[in-house]
Order: sequence, then C-alpha cells, then structure tokens
Amino acid sequence: MDYSEKIAAAKEVFGKLLEEQLKRVEGMKAQGGFTDYAALPKIVIGVCGGDGIGPAITSQAQRILEYLLSDEVKSGKVEFKVIDGLTIERRVEEHAAIPADVLAELKTCDVILKGPTTTPRKGDPWPNVESANVAMRKELDLFANVRPVRIPEQGIDWTFYRENTEGAYAVGSKGVHVTEDLGVDFTVVTTQGCERIIRAAFEYAKANKKTRVTAVTKANIIKTTDGKFLDVFREVAKDYPEITADDWYIDIMTAKLIDENRRREFQVMVLPNLYGDIITDEAAEFQGGVGTAGSANIGKRYAMFEAIHGSAPRMVQEGREKYADPCSVIRAAAMLLAHIGYTEQADKLYQALDICTVTEKKYVITGRDTGATGAQFADYIMETIAAL
Ligand code: IPM
Ligand code: MG
Repeated sequence: MDYSEKIAAAKEVFGKLLEEQLKRVEGMKAQGGFTDYAALPKIVIGVCGGDGIGPAITSQAQRILEYLLSDEVKSGKVEFKVIDGLTIERRVEEHAAIPADVLAELKTCDVILKGPTTTPRKGDPWPNVESANVAMRKELDLFANVRPVRIPEQGIDWTFYRENTEGAYAVGSKGVHVTEDLGVDFTVVTTQGCERIIRAAFEYAKANKKTRVTAVTKANIIKTTDGKFLDVFREVAKDYPEITADDWYIDIMTAKLIDENRRREFQVMVLPNLYGDIITDEAAEFQGGVGTAGSANIGKRYAMFEAIHGSAPRMVQEGREKYADPCSVIRAAAMLLAHIGYTEQADKLYQALDICTVTEKKYVITGRDTGATGAQFADYIMETIAAL
C-alpha cells in the first residue's frame, strides 16, 4: 500500500494547526494584565441565554442580578445587555460555533452570564458544529475554568482550576482521518498557557489562605504535554514557598476523591482541560449533581459565568422550561458578582441560596408542574435577600 498521498495531506493539516497554535503563543506573550473592574467607567454585563432551557433559567438569574445591582444600574456603573441568537438553529444556519453577530456583541461586554448551549453529539440531527462553550472560551481567551465544590458538613472545600483553552480541547474538532482506518487527534500545551493557569491557582490559594495546591496530570504516560504542565507547575510553585505543592496522577486522584479519609485534604487543584472536565463532574456529584454547580471562565480581558449542565431540549419540547431549576445559573451569577468586586451582594446571594435550597426550602423544583417555577424560585431568593 502506498500511503504517501494520505500522509502528505495529513501533514498539511498538521502544519496549519502548528501555525495557528504558534500564533496563539505569540498572542499570549503580548497579553497584558487582568481587567480592573473598579477602574472601568461602566461594567457591561452580557446575558446570553443560549438555547433549550437556557433563556428561561438565565432570565431568572438576570432578575436577581438586577435586583442586587439596582443602585449601580441607576448610577450608570453597571449596564445589562441581553444577547440572543446563541442557539443551535442559528449556529447550524451560519455553520459557526458562535454566529458572527453574537460574537461581536459578546465582545462589547466585560463579563457574561451564559445559559447552556446545545453541543451536537454523534448521531444527533445536527451537523458537527463545534461546541459554543468551547468556542467562547477560546474566542474570549477564558483560560481559567474555576469550579468550586463545597460540602461543609463533610469538610469538603475544593476549588478546581481547570485549564480551559488548551490540552485535548485546543484543536479538538480538527483531528485528521489519515486513512479510513487511522484517526489522529492532537493535544496541545504551551509554556504560556500552563504558566497562566497554574499561577492563577497559586494566586487564588494565596489570596484565600489555602495551604495546598495540587497538580493533576498523567505525566508518567503523556510525557510531552502533561510533562510540560508538571514542569511548569514545579517552576511556578517555587514562587509560593508558603504553599505546599504536590502532584497526583488523574487516575488515582479520581479514586481518592471518593476516599472519605483523604479527600478533605485537597484544597486547590490545577489540571489540564480534559482531566478538569471529567473530575469536576465527579466532584460536583458529591455536592448534589452538576445541576448544583456554577462555573467561572476567567481570562485577562473577559470573564464568563455559566451553569455546567446541558440545555435539556426535551423539557422545552414538553413545554416545561418554566419549571427548569435556575439554581446553577444563579450560582454562576453569584460568582460573577464576586468577580467584578460586588462581594457583599455575592455573599447575600450565596446565603439566600443556602436558605432556599438547604435550610428553609419553602419551594421545591421538580422540573414539572408538581413543583415551583423558576420565576417563583427567583422571587423566593429575592424575598429571602430582602429579609437578611
Ligand atoms: C463542561 C462541559 C463542556 C466541556 C461541554 C458542554 C463542551 O462538559 O463545561 O464541562 O466539555 O467543557
Ligand atoms: Mg464537563
């Protein structure tokens, strides 16, 4: 068999990928510092509902944000901007992970609250458009995916710093079928990409009086890319001598998270993209499932806050979206508030969430007409805040 033509075609694809990635490295080298929200004349909060149940739950979180920031809106310090059109239909129509007009709108915001978006799976009626989530993280260079998991009664207080723009996701939709029988995907890491996420994890630890940062890789096997992640981790750790820095392999870390005697010891974990994706679902499950978790996607210029569950299109088909649980995106809204400096409002929202979902629980949300609607729940949160 002569494969030379197929190999040449694959090499061409690979060459283009390398050019793109090297350009990204240059971009990272030229990057400035983090946005200082207090110094901005105005903070624009984009509210991008996504699709499926997204618009229904995101609009409830928006009501709560508007309530908590009503003074700031009045004074002109904060402005809300609703961005429609990040739907699977529009994305398919435009053959784009994010339609161009939506992306342009997103870039006029400083921070974004985002609802879930449908990611086509193999076998779905949709063509294989890239995940809108992944595209937004890349387009806005949101390199730090911060996912806290807290279960105080079990002594669990974890913060995951998942790298969000590189690893298996960097060119995840650009692998090559070299021949009918041979498929190759690419995993990419860069020194700059590792350094900024690892430093962000240590800075978080330092600012929040955490004493330990743990890197999670599979550097014993994936020697080049995970190896680089670990090398950079060890280098950066030297700048934080007061913090214990250790490293674990992803397989045993996955096991240790269910070891009740050991798991309490972990505090901040920093990991490449795919491991972060997997382990944060596992971790969120202890807290009550992915529906209870919010996630922050932070870059130097932009930041985006989202629920980590899917768009539940079936609920919409059955006309049940108004019964969808808005808690995860409300939690994301609390993270947004804290990120832009409104920590007092964020704390109130966290307290209210705790009262409304754990201690008092006047309403239950079942996802059907047997439970409260998202709007009733949002009212309940606001009443609870008013009574604090
Ligand atoms: C997440 C999700 C996404 C991811 C999907 C929807 C693309 O699982 O935010 O963890 O894999 O990153
Ligand atoms: Mg995930």
